[in-house]
Amino acid sequence: MHGAMNEAREKVLGALAGVMSPVLKRPLTDAGLIKEVTVEGTTVSLRVVELGQDEEARASVEKEIRAALAGAGFEDAKVAWETRVYGRDIGPDDPVPEVKNIVLVMSGKGGVGKSTVASNLTMALRRAGWPVGLLDADIYGPSVPTMFGIMGKPMSKDGVKIEPLERFGVKLMSIGFLLEDPKAAVIWRGPMLHGALTQFLKDVAWGKLDYLVIDLPPGTGDVALTLSQRAKVTGAVMVTTPQEVALQDVYKAVSMCERLGIPVLGVVENMSYFVDTAGVRHELFGAGGGARVAEMANAPLLGQIPIDPTVRECGDEGTPVVQAKPASPIAQSFAAVANELTSVIASRYFQEAGGAAPTERKRLKIVR
Ligand SMILES: Nc1ncnc2c1ncn2[C@@H]1O[C@H](COP(=O)(O)OP(=O)(O)OP(=O)(O)O)[C@@H](O)[C@H]1O
Ligand SMILES: [Mg+2]
Repeated sequence: MHGAMNEAREKVLGALAGVMSPVLKRPLTDAGLIKEVTVEGTTVSLRVVELGQDEEARASVEKEIRAALAGAGFEDAKVAWETRVYGRDIGPDDPVPEVKNIVLVMSGKGGVGKSTVASNLTMALRRAGWPVGLLDADIYGPSVPTMFGIMGKPMSKDGVKIEPLERFGVKLMSIGFLLEDPKAAVIWRGPMLHGALTQFLKDVAWGKLDYLVIDLPPGTGDVALTLSQRAKVTGAVMVTTPQEVALQDVYKAVSMCERLGIPVLGVVENMSYFVDTAGVRHELFGAGGGARVAEMANAPLLGQIPIDPTVRECGDEGTPVVQAKPASPIAQSFAAVANELTSVIASRYFQEAGGAAPTERKRLKIVR
């Protein structure tokens, strides 16, 4: 009886051997992402673990699964889905133990669009369904209040932790929220960068988040150092522009990450090209900077963001373009970056874990 069931399961897993995880780019069965296979007559029930939130990817994987099973003679399939998020190692002293991933957005030099990328990347992650927060670590020139059109005083419910503000479903914290509030300023004990950043992590009630994005100020040595000492960060997203001819600044940022043990997760090339009203693409600032930086950092190019004046307009009006105009090409390029980033993070952690999620298949082999 059991033998027959195992045989049927093996047949199911064999039939599914060619269905790839869009995130890990390897077969779902190999990665242990097909769970709880049961067979009753010609009906298969199974659960698929997904590592991303991309609805389209999910739908196409499900279609492939159904086709593969039908091809193996199973008439009906009940497919359930489960989302899994890989995350940081969380030590006993971690200031944000409920935050699975911390992603630093940084660059070699100022004004390349770190805050724009951080805001829209966070917004895109949120719209894809992840619980997210955005921490504005620019103590001297905060951008988040403007870009999210929100001012206000974070309050404390319990007298211990400060509640982040929330807009469009994103939890937000910025020194900009606290500047005009003398009482809050007291809570924050003066302008010490180190202390303020630590408090931004430890004393803010971030709650359970899959991704906390941190927008770093230009020339970020101190801030990255402090953050990496306080918490294990998932890694950094390096923002650059296409005309990055002198790679020296980026090189400094990348080697700083190396020194601090912060993996460079990927590179975003911002202001890559301009599409005119006739739909023609112009590479105003040259081409290839992002790819060169990615090569140097030994990290993937996560995407290219066009130059689009609406990004500034939306930012100034307090709604990131990804939220204000989700169908626009620029919003979609941010959504693609967000999707790619979650894939990179999942793949990295999957590899770090030795790709060792126990698979049903292996377990079945042992049983047999
Ligand atoms: N893809 C884009 N298209 C058009 N304008 C952009 C784009 N990206 C950023 N900008 C504009 O460029 C300016 C600088 O962007 P942003 O403030 O995001 O850069 P930054 O790297 O955070 O700067 P800083 O180093 O001062 O923190 C802003 O006015 C922003 O609206
Ligand atoms: Mg900025």
